[in-house]
Order: sequence, then C-alpha cells, then structure tokens
Amino acid sequence: MTKPIILTGDRTTGPLHLGHYVGSLRNRVAFQDTHEQFLLLADAQALTDNVNDIAKVRNNVIEVALDYLAVGIDPAKTSICLQSHLPALTELAMLYLNFVTVARLERNPTIKDEIRARGFGRDIPAGFLCYPASQAADITAFRATVVPVGEDQAALIEQTNEIVRRVNALAGRELLPEAQAVIPRAGRLPGVDGRAKMSKSAGNAIPLSASPDEISAAVRAMFTDPDHLRIDDPGKVEGNLVFAYLDAFDDDRGMVEELKARYRRGGLGDSTIKRRLDDILQALIAPIRARRAELAASLDHVIEVIRAGTMKAREVTDRTRHDVTEGLGLFRL
Ligand code: TRP
Repeated sequence: MTKPIILTGDRTTGPLHLGHYVGSLRNRVAFQDTHEQFLLLADAQALTDNVNDIAKVRNNVIEVALDYLAVGIDPAKTSICLQSHLPALTELAMLYLNFVTVARLERNPTIKDEIRARGFGRDIPAGFLCYPASQAADITAFRATVVPVGEDQAALIEQTNEIVRRVNALAGRELLPEAQAVIPRAGRLPGVDGRAKMSKSAGNAIPLSASPDEISAAVRAMFTDPDHLRIDDPGKVEGNLVFAYLDAFDDDRGMVEELKARYRRGGLGDSTIKRRLDDILQALIAPIRARRAELAASLDHVIEVIRAGTMKAREVTDRTRHDVTEGLGLFRL
C-alpha cells in the first residue's frame, strides 16, 4: 500500500516559534511514519511580501530547516525541499492563475486578513494577491491529499480544491486529487501578550530556540486574571493565558482540570501555575535548543539534507506538471 502524501511548509521569514509547534510542527512529526511527507521551505512565497528584504528570506531558509530537524523531523522519512528550486511549482502557479478571478482572490479570508495586517492599502503586490494560486501549485504538484497547517491556512486549502475541481472538469478526468487541511483541535496558541495570534513580527512569540531566561521571562509576564488579587480569591480560567498554555502543552490533562477547579474555587496562586508552565516549557524546549545548536555546528549536513529533499521533490513535481499540461491538451514538441 502506498502512503498518503503530505505537503506543507512555512515561509522563510524568521525562525519558528511555539505557535508553529502547536499549530503544525507537532502534527508533522507525528505524521512522518504514516505518510509520505514533503516540507516546503517557502522562500518564493516569502518574497511576495518581503521583496525588499531578500537577505532575510535567504538567511531564514537555514533557520527554518534547523527548526524542522530540531523538533524531530527525520530527513530519512520527510523530504525538506526549497520552493525556489522547483520550477514546476512556478509553471503550475502561472497556469492556475487562469482558473481564479481577481475578485475571488480578494475575497479569500486569509488574504484579506493578511492585507489588513500588512497595511498594504491599495498597493498590494500582485504576487501577494495571487499567492493562493502558487500555494495550490505547491500542494497539487506533490499530489498531496493531507495538509497539516494552522487554522489561518484553511481558506487557502479551500481555494486549492476549487482550482483542482476546475482543472479536473476541464480535463474530463481526475488529473489531481483534492486535499484536506489537518488543523489541530486545540486551535491557535495566543501570543504571550494575550493577543489572538503568536507571531514574531508582533513581538509576542517564544522561539523554539529560546534560552531558559527568555522562557521564564515570558511566563512571568503572562497575565492571568486581573481580579485574582489574593491567593484565596476565586480566579477565572477563561481568558487566563497561563491556562491557555497549560491546555496546549501539559500532557497531564487530569492535573490541568484539577488545577482549574482549584483556581476557580480560590486558594491557588498565580505563581504556582506559572511555575508549572515554566517547568513544562523548559522541558519541551531544552532538547530542541540543544539539538538545534548541534545541527547549526554542521551546516554542511543541513544543506545536504535540503539538497537531497529538493532533488526528490523535483522529480515528483516535474512529473505532475507534465501530466497536467498533457491532460489539459497543450501542444507538445
Ligand atoms: N502559507 C504558508 C505559511 O504562511 C506556507 C506555505 C507555502 C504552505 N506553501 C504551502 C503551507 C503549501 C501548506 C502547503 O507559512
């Protein structure tokens, strides 16, 4: 039996953080035994809103690859590949642009949010508005049926499947499979400042390479319940950042429920729950940080991993590009 195929990736705009870990990395590590997995270092997509800082996009190719390997992505099971070195992705993206309208792109909720967040106003780079077609090319070129991503990406998978259906309808047969987003049930991890989303640019992220002091400082600064002034006061769990993090990271569910009950009743201090969270995050990040440092000391090896993954991806994606152009009936020389 052939394994189902996964394609997912990250823009190479900065090192990854705990939000990525909860949102997608944890799933990807779990999936690599049961699926044929490709991870895309999406440097071309990163250019769509970072063309004035190409050095950042270039330098973070290695940073993101280090994060993948440090959290336990095994290059013997998962192919890590570089988007800009896969020409079939660009060719398919160009083709797919004919299957979407500008109005549909402008209606994509992810794109709408991102345009607002980046403050483009009316000056939206065309490459940025059109990147859903490029992401559809990424996913379909690998014939991926499973896409483990954070919930903000769901609208992009939906648009991918619209393109797939149009291509298949035109070809008169199933040239491409539809893909399904796999989104963690826990939802998205809030930033350490309590804002809905953890992101490096918002300055509210804990990077996967955070030092012990950085972790402790972030936990210490987290707000809990502003009305929980004395230990004996009853406290609120909803909207309490420390409990949101315990929900995401504490494997002892029974203990978390017990702590919540005690906190609500009164008699459980903020310092106790913070100490527990600090211990858990230190234990999670310490081995990742150590492995990352070890890998960073042999970058040649990391580059070899990316090269090998990209070569394998090139074969797969070139074949799909050939099948799609042939299936649609383009002229062949
Ligand atoms: N859009 C993703 C992000 O913001 C990166 C990405 C590029 C991706 N191509 C993909 C994710 C294909 C899933 C599948 O990080």
